[in-house]
Amino acid sequence: MAVYGVRIITGGFLGAGTWDHISISLVGSEGKSPPLHLDTCGKDFSRGAEEEFTVCSEPVGSLLFLQLHKAPLWLPTPLPLPLPPDAWFCSSVHLIPPEGPPLNFPCYQWLEGACTLVLREGTAKLASSDTVPLLLEQRRGELQKRQGTYRWKTYAPGWPHCVDVEAVEELSPDVHYSLGKSISFFLKASSAFIKLKMKGLLNDASPWKDLKDLRQIFSIQKTPVYEYVVEHWKEDELFASQFLNGLNPILIQRCRQLPPHFPVTDAMVAPFLGRGTSLDAELKRGTMFLVDYKLLDGIPAGQINGKQQYVAAPLCLLQQPPGRPLRPIAIQLSQTPGPDSPIFLPSDSEWDWLTAKTWVRSAEFAIHEAVSHLGRAHLLPEVFSIATLRQLPLCHPLYKSTAVGVSGFTELVRRDLEQLTYSTLCLPEDVRARGVSNLPGYHYRDDGLKIWGVPPSLESRAALIRYLTMVIFTCSAQHAAFSAGQFDFSAWMPNFPPSMQLPPPTAKGLAGPESFLASLPDINATCDIIIVLWLLSKEPGDLRSLGCFPDAHFTEEAPRRSQEAFAARLAEISRQIQERNARLPLPYTYLDPPNIENSVAI
Ligand code: FE2
Repeated sequence: MAVYGVRIITGGFLGAGTWDHISISLVGSEGKSPPLHLDTCGKDFSRGAEEEFTVCSEPVGSLLFLQLHKAPLWLPTPLPLPLPPDAWFCSSVHLIPPEGPPLNFPCYQWLEGACTLVLREGTAKLASSDTVPLLLEQRRGELQKRQGTYRWKTYAPGWPHCVDVEAVEELSPDVHYSLGKSISFFLKASSAFIKLKMKGLLNDASPWKDLKDLRQIFSIQKTPVYEYVVEHWKEDELFASQFLNGLNPILIQRCRQLPPHFPVTDAMVAPFLGRGTSLDAELKRGTMFLVDYKLLDGIPAGQINGKQQYVAAPLCLLQQPPGRPLRPIAIQLSQTPGPDSPIFLPSDSEWDWLTAKTWVRSAEFAIHEAVSHLGRAHLLPEVFSIATLRQLPLCHPLYKSTAVGVSGFTELVRRDLEQLTYSTLCLPEDVRARGVSNLPGYHYRDDGLKIWGVPPSLESRAALIRYLTMVIFTCSAQHAAFSAGQFDFSAWMPNFPPSMQLPPPTAKGLAGPESFLASLPDINATCDIIIVLWLLSKEPGDLRSLGCFPDAHFTEEAPRRSQEAFAARLAEISRQIQERNARLPLPYTYLDPPNIENSVAI
């Protein structure tokens, strides 16, 4: 008989411990041990515990893997009844064999009910040709189990496939929010809704009478960016800078030739371009940029409070004057030019120009939430996740409160996926394709490219690295860029209106303060969306930053060194970003590595 020491580590979070029976079987090249019970007198496997046991087994040859068994605890006679199964989160198992070094079996999974989990040693290598079939059989069984658990279905034509379940509860606890996170989320949401309910705002379906009233929605929850937006939201400079460093910094592209359906003339923009130049000359010089919301053309709008909402598909032309900030110089609110779709200019009346810019911001909201955030930062990562782990993140509630409604959201995601390419998802190629490599002050691009970088010594595996980097960037940094600033930029609602209640203006000279306020969402609709965006942009209480690896899945020296090098590189990037931000009136913090969740968390 061989004597083994066994050390078990239970997860440290709420509900991780168990009262069930736990045992292990050793599976080796020459046989398998019976289940070896690990329970001792008293309470075992409590939350956060590290416990040691001793077991005896006949020799099993070269150890291939461990089986971890969980079974319900039975009450002693005269009442031989099983207690209800108690889920257990096992972090890792460490085995000290009679000879040789200790072996580490990373787990980091929930065990529910009566079950058996197969664990491989963290540094395990295929010992010999005899053991390969055993390991492959174990792997096949594991995959079949997961694939059987999560079947595919198509949510809507043209959308990515998703998991075929009706409720989050049907999924494995490994892919749920933790109990602590769920409680924190529920408490935050409840307190925000109760506060607004007590102020009478949640039932008020009337339009805003004065924009100053908006400040009472979140009288406590303010951020420096929010305060900056309140102060500067009408200014062209902040309007333009949000194409670079706002919530949706992926649409702007260099414009060498105007689209034929955006007939901006030299006479219109000459006063802004200055003497000695022309629109054609500036287009050739590469100082002109275009943001085109053509995806929104013909998208159906929904109703809120029983009122029809409206969606526009604007085009916005911007110029990058040498040494000065990017600025908008022409806006058309539809894809069809003509007398009913004037081209608005900075020289128009204050309210005409502000109204045109606000329509662009409203289009930006629809594209950001449906295409960029939901489509590219949730549904696409979901495909990656299912393909590797067969898991599903929480459903996204945003479609309920916006102008485009459910069918509009579906259509927008479908249209974006039709035009989406692999290169679009690879930041360096996307930046080159949009012609924005040299656009100054584009912090999203600069910070994103730093995080994208990989060591040049891996060039021989470039294709694999490119793919994995795209997946990691999409599921971490890209989501952070789309998500973390949602409250900052949207809490002052006119800067990022989720919906518009009047049709786009069809002539100049019609807009004024009254029509501007009447166009914006009602009080209760504003409160609904701001609470949702506040919750979605807040870190849910258990942040795991990019480059932070609390679960010790890798025990070998080489990956540990890689992890340390990655963390050191991220720390250097963070230092550079913070140094840059200290000089900016509006710091760009969303891609500072400590602020980036290592996966799509909310
Ligand atoms: Fe998100």
